[in-house]
Amino acid sequence: MKTLREVLGVITDGVQVAVKKVDFSYGATHVLIDIDLAITQGDFLAIIGPNGSGKSTLLKIILGLLPVQQGNVILFGQELARFSQWSKIGYVPQKAAHSGAFFPASAAEVVSMGLLSTKKFPKFLGRQDKESVESALERVNMEAFKTRRIGELSGGQQQRVFIARAIVNEPEILFLDEPTAGVDAETQQRFYDMLDMLNKDHNITIVMVTHDVGVVTKHVNKVACLNQRLVFHGTHDEFCSSAVVQDILKGEHHLVCHRH
Ligand SMILES: Nc1ncnc2c1ncn2[C@@H]1O[C@H](COP(=O)(O)OP(=O)(O)O)[C@@H](O)[C@H]1O
Ligand SMILES: [Mg+2]
Repeated sequence: MKTLREVLGVITDGVQVAVKKVDFSYGATHVLIDIDLAITQGDFLAIIGPNGSGKSTLLKIILGLLPVQQGNVILFGQELARFSQWSKIGYVPQKAAHSGAFFPASAAEVVSMGLLSTKKFPKFLGRQDKESVESALERVNMEAFKTRRIGELSGGQQQRVFIARAIVNEPEILFLDEPTAGVDAETQQRFYDMLDMLNKDHNITIVMVTHDVGVVTKHVNKVACLNQRLVFHGTHDEFCSSAVVQDILKGEHHLVCHRH
């Protein structure tokens, strides 16, 4: 009998996530059609596409938060239904910062929640755990704010704390859903620099859903363009020479593909 890997034929070395022929509907609304996507170790992938094109839905399917209705999702070589090493995967959902804004917890406590989620009972935090929390806060440059209440931080600072929570288990891949929505341009720039650092220095694969097509210019090495179907998936350079993409982006094409 053929193994799942052979059947799918898409698993090559370094592929962390493989999405194969995935379709998804909310009731009668068909949202994703025939999605094939491979995410490789070390990638910094941007998933772009218009509002309502299915970006968040695709992320939630990969993360097991929505069912695989049709097709396959393979995580680290294992079918999603049998996958259990969730600490390898970090996730910052859309609008994480807003929902947490009034939560009466300190930055360090918010980050600890990321550790507790993978612990079995008893859920104590030991010295090692506290060090993990501090190191996650350091990596996002928020160690000075560890005792600060999350609600007292700016939107950009809150977003960093939510990233610290997502990386506290030292994941191999980090998914972010529109992390810079509502953040000013300068903060965005520092934010992308931080993601670059996580990607290059800490070897974390980054998958970011974004509206900010300008980010493609400087930071990412792969682009996936979604509009119900995956209309494009490839490297930054292929993206820039693709006719499909020129058509979709229209006036924005120059902006995206002109590297500074
Ligand atoms: N829970 C839901 N129930 C029904 N329809 C939904 C639900 N979530 C999203 N949708 C619809 O599915 C489509 C894709 O949504 P989404 O994946 O959130 O798109 P994006 O993240 O690209 O903006 C949209 O038309 C949206 O209205
Ligand atoms: Mg979305």
